[in-house]
Amino acid sequence: MSSNKSVVLGSAPQVDLSPLLAQVTVPADVAEAAQSQLVEVFREGIATLPHPLCTASIWLACKEAWPHTDDDFEGLHFINLAIQAHHSFTQALPGGLIGEVAVRPGTLFHTNPLCLHWLSPSDQVRNGLAPATGYIGLQWEVPFHEAEERFNWLVAELGKHALFASLYQDERPVFVTPEGDYSGAAPGHGIASAAA
Ligand SMILES: [Fe+2]
Repeated sequence: MSSNKSVVLGSAPQVDLSPLLAQVTVPADVAEAAQSQLVEVFREGIATLPHPLCTASIWLACKEAWPHTDDDFEGLHFINLAIQAHHSFTQALPGGLIGEVAVRPGTLFHTNPLCLHWLSPSDQVRNGLAPATGYIGLQWEVPFHEAEERFNWLVAELGKHALFASLYQDERPVFVTPEGDYSGAAPGHGIASAAA
């Protein structure tokens, strides 16, 4: 895989959402899970987060995530917002490409669960130039046929809280059609009944 080319998969990491993130209270269980070798998910406290964070599906916390796929989520797409992070997210893409994005607080990125993906500490952390930081983020689990629309909606809503007016304008996300034979909507996410 060393010959693979890279593409940008998420937002510019320098986007400053600190005014919004300062309003986020991370539950103790989530904060503790950021030191776990396992990827742990939680739902507590999401409903009381400020808009649009209160629309997230889950908290996601881990120290790192080794390369894997999430085959049980076929038909869905993950959109992630980093709350606490000093990481690099990478996803294998068709055509011998590797998508990667530096993940810092406020970074918005997305994942095709059927593509190999992983989350590793940043080069700065691995080289001792930054303190080790567990990952804490919010994840939206959306039907893949709505993923780009939902991503754009989040960009617009988060943009209302950003210190930079040019939020995500320079680096647009790359969306990848899920691999495999499955081409329908996810269970419980029928196209006809999909929420706006
Ligand atoms: Fe995953």
